[in-house]
Amino acid sequence: MAHIIVVGNEKGGAGKSTVSMHVATALARMGHRVGGLDLDLRQRTFGRYVENRKAFCESAGLELPSPSYHTLPDIDPSTVKDGENIYDLRLSAAVAALEPETDFILIDCPGSHTRLSQVAHSLADTLVTPLNDSFVDFDLLAHIDSTGEKILGPSVYSEMVWNARQLRAQAGLKPIDWIVVRNRLGAQQMVNKEKMGKALDRLAKRIGFRTAPGFNERVIFRELFPRGLTLLDLKDIGVKQLNISNVAARQELRELIKALDLPEVAADF
Ligand SMILES: Nc1ncnc2c1ncn2[C@@H]1O[C@H](COP(=O)(O)OP(=O)(O)O)[C@@H](O)[C@H]1O
Ligand SMILES: [Mg+2]
Repeated sequence: MAHIIVVGNEKGGAGKSTVSMHVATALARMGHRVGGLDLDLRQRTFGRYVENRKAFCESAGLELPSPSYHTLPDIDPSTVKDGENIYDLRLSAAVAALEPETDFILIDCPGSHTRLSQVAHSLADTLVTPLNDSFVDFDLLAHIDSTGEKILGPSVYSEMVWNARQLRAQAGLKPIDWIVVRNRLGAQQMVNKEKMGKALDRLAKRIGFRTAPGFNERVIFRELFPRGLTLLDLKDIGVKQLNISNVAARQELRELIKALDLPEVAADF
């Protein structure tokens, strides 16, 4: 059975597609068979990323280990029975097709609350939630008092994850390993950073997630998209000397993979 990694957060711009591409490619580079699905059917950033990689490799005559990207199969609406949802059927069909031929299925979710995203969360063995270092974004996980210290209660996204966990428990599936990853951390804003860290630690215990080392704000994370590359590929395309920021970014990615603690994945690579 493939291990399903869902990357989700209802907030747009949190870094879901960036994290999806980096994690999927890192696993592929380690020799795992990785299938990718993009549930943001409109923006398709993750899908576009993988397509860009394929086009770049073809034009440069390179063969880089890559995730394979799949679209949801079409289903004839006339075959959908009463009470069934066509999106559920399309997602189930895509996962069922990938399961026998992959070790990991990575599902990138849209930055909104959709039926597809909801169902995907209930399929997650591992759920990765990138989070911008901002209380505006934190508000989708939990409401917090005016001091930024006291958690008042879970919010919409956490409640959705809670529902997904309930569904899995009822189906006898193993619990979701939920990991929140801070993204776009700045070198400044120390006070905010510390406050966010503390609030997240408190919330982690309360609603059941782990936190993993995240990514700093780095221009390289934005530059690689047109060629479909990740930080791990730079040497393979002939970059001889990585600058300090790129070395640090690559290390951040390695730390994240380690922290995800995925089955059959070496801690060091
Ligand atoms: N660590 C980072 N450093 C710099 N830019 C980043 C970083 N992570 C994401 N970005 C940029 O932030 C924007 C949103 O990222 P994206 O992965 O598309 O988020 P989402 O899929 O959650 O909407 C993109 O322009 C992306 O290039
Ligand atoms: Mg996205």
